[in-house]
Parts: sequence; structure tokens; C-alpha cells
Amino acid sequence: GKDGYRHYMEKELHEHPVVIGQTLQRLIDPATRRVVLPDLPFDLACVPRAVVTACGSAFYAGMIGRYWLEQYARLPVDIDVASEMRYRDPPLVPGGLGLLISQSGETADTLAALRGMRQAGQHIVSVLNVEQSTMARESDAVLGTVAGPEISVASTKAFTAQLSVLACLTVALGRARGHLDAAAEERMVTALLDLPSRANEVFEQRDAIRRMAAIVAEARDVLYLGRGSSFPVALEGALKLKEITYIHAEAYAAGEMKHGPISLIDRTVPVVATVPSGRLFDKTLSNLQEAKARGGRLLVFTDTQGAPRLRELAEVVVEVPAVDEFTAPIVQTIPVQILAYEVALLKGTDVDQPRNLAKSVTVE
Ligand code: M6R
Repeated sequence: GKDGYRHYMEKELHEHPVVIGQTLQRLIDPATRRVVLPDLPFDLACVPRAVVTACGSAFYAGMIGRYWLEQYARLPVDIDVASEMRYRDPPLVPGGLGLLISQSGETADTLAALRGMRQAGQHIVSVLNVEQSTMARESDAVLGTVAGPEISVASTKAFTAQLSVLACLTVALGRARGHLDAAAEERMVTALLDLPSRANEVFEQRDAIRRMAAIVAEARDVLYLGRGSSFPVALEGALKLKEITYIHAEAYAAGEMKHGPISLIDRTVPVVATVPSGRLFDKTLSNLQEAKARGGRLLVFTDTQGAPRLRELAEVVVEVPAVDEFTAPIVQTIPVQILAYEVALLKGTDVDQPRNLAKSVTVE
């Protein structure tokens, strides 16, 4: 049941902290505080590159995984949505890592891409929530997300569970490839183990998110922005808004704005930006100043460290706990999903069963 929540989506949003914790528990040894992956039938250290594919939200999780694998494990990564990947037939060097991500393990395009990668001699590792699924049976190894059943068509907790797995895979690959020393691994593991508590604190921002929702609910079009690992968070926010509120939303890498979408901006098109403190903060801030100068209304997700510098610029600031740059996209995803939910409540749409959508897309 819904445990007293109005919708499965609301219940599942509240499960983020627990699900992240359970998923990490499987992959981090509490005694040594090291990431321990299940036995793999190949040597991670020998993988020359990775090819990542998935659909929808799972694809956005994969995009965050790409930023991580490149930055922390220095592993070359190619990524595309599965419906493209399956027909692209990219030239792959045998012995590479084929990384699939799926909540259901039954998505037709992702399964077809998996089979293509297998034929091309890749080691198939799937990040799956349903561990008794077709993709599980056809993989060399399964890294399970421990999200429990996800009923709402709009994916929520499965996404942060996927990120938790991809984060651990990044640490394991970084170590195997000699790009992470013990101190760096310790720092990253500490940031991961801290996540359930930090994720819990996001729910204290409910009022600020509701103020944002009131503005978004009046809009016909919404622009989502983010840079680096916050760009897929923006994509996830825009997808969730489209799915359950039927408001048109587009996500852009913040730096791309002046190459086109800035022409859309006026008072009627709110700009929702994800701007955690860190390396890219100032870059995104200057993109927001440009949007504001064109009359844009800024609704900003940031953290306690970034908030003071955004208060003057933005109409609403949602301030989640400041965490390590590595885990920021996991924490930042939660308020972005809650925003879509709050807008759906205002719109009175069918949150758990949005029109035209199925939970699992098993046909092409
Ligand atoms: O079961 P999968 O993770 O393979 O599903 C992939 C997408 O269909 C799914 O994430 C979809 O985009 C969700 N409705 C997003 O909320």
C-alpha cells in the first residue's frame, strides 16, 4: 500500500534515504570502509573503456556515471540512449565494459543494446532493480539496486539507487586503474555513507519547494539548467515535470544557453537551475545572471554553501546540505523530483498513472 501517503510517488520519494543506504550497504564493507563489488568474471583493471546505455531516467543516471568514471577513474566512456545505441552499432574493442542500467530489467531497447554489446565482445554488467529479469539472465554480472518495488510510473528511488551503485563502481574502477589512493577512496566512501542522513534533510525544504511549485504550475514552458554532473539532474527534473504535469520542460547544459535557448527567456518561462557549490559554481552563476538580465525568473537548487551568493539573484532558493562534489548529484536529484510532484498536486494530474505512459516499455 501507500503507507498513508497520497500517491506511490510520494511514498517512493520518501524512501530515497533508506534505499540509498540499503544499496550502499551491499557494496561497502563497514569494517574496512572499502567498496567491495561482487566477484566479476573479468578483471576490472583491464577494461580499456566503457560503453553505457539505458532509457529515460536510467539513461540520465548513466550520464552522471559517465562524469564520475571519466573524472575519478579516468576511464574513457561512450554513452547513448539505448534506442540509438542498438542501431548505431559502434565499433567496440572486445574486452570493454558494456554497462546497462534499468529498473525493470525488461526494457526492450536496453535489452537489444545489451545483446548487441555481447556480440561485440563486451563484458556485460547490468545495474538492475529487478534481479529476476531478462537482462539479469543475459548479463555477466548484475549490480543490484536495493530500491524495492517501484510502483509509480515516474521513477524516483530507483534513480538514486542506480547512482549509488554507479558511484561504488566508480570507486572500484578508480582504485583498480590506479587513479585513487587510499585517502581519496576514504573521502569518497565517507561522502557516500553520509548520504542517507543528508538525503533525509532535503525534506526540510518542502516549503521552499512548494513556493517554486506555485510558480512552475503557472508556466507553459520551463527551462532546466545545470553543468557537469548537474546537467543530467536538470534533464531528470525536466523529464519528471513533463511526465506527471504535462508542462513542457527542456533541460540544457547551462553553457549552451547562449547558443540558442536564451531566446526563449522572459517572465513567463521560469528557469530552474541546479547549482551545487564546487568547481563549476561560478560558471553556472554567470549563466544565471545572463538569464536574469533577460527578465527570467530564477528558481534555484543549491546547497548551504552556495545559497548566500544566490539569494539576491533568485526568486526562490532551495538549499540542501552541502556535500562532497562527488555525491552532490545524488542529493540534488531529490528536490528536483519533489518539485515535479508538488506541481502535479497543484495541477491535479494523475501522479502515479500519467497519460500515455507505461511503467516498463517492453516493446520497441
Ligand atoms: O525499467 P527501466 O529503468 O529500463 O525504464 C527506463 C525508462 O522507461 C524509465 O526510466 C522512464 O523514463 C521513467 N518513466 C522515468 O520517470
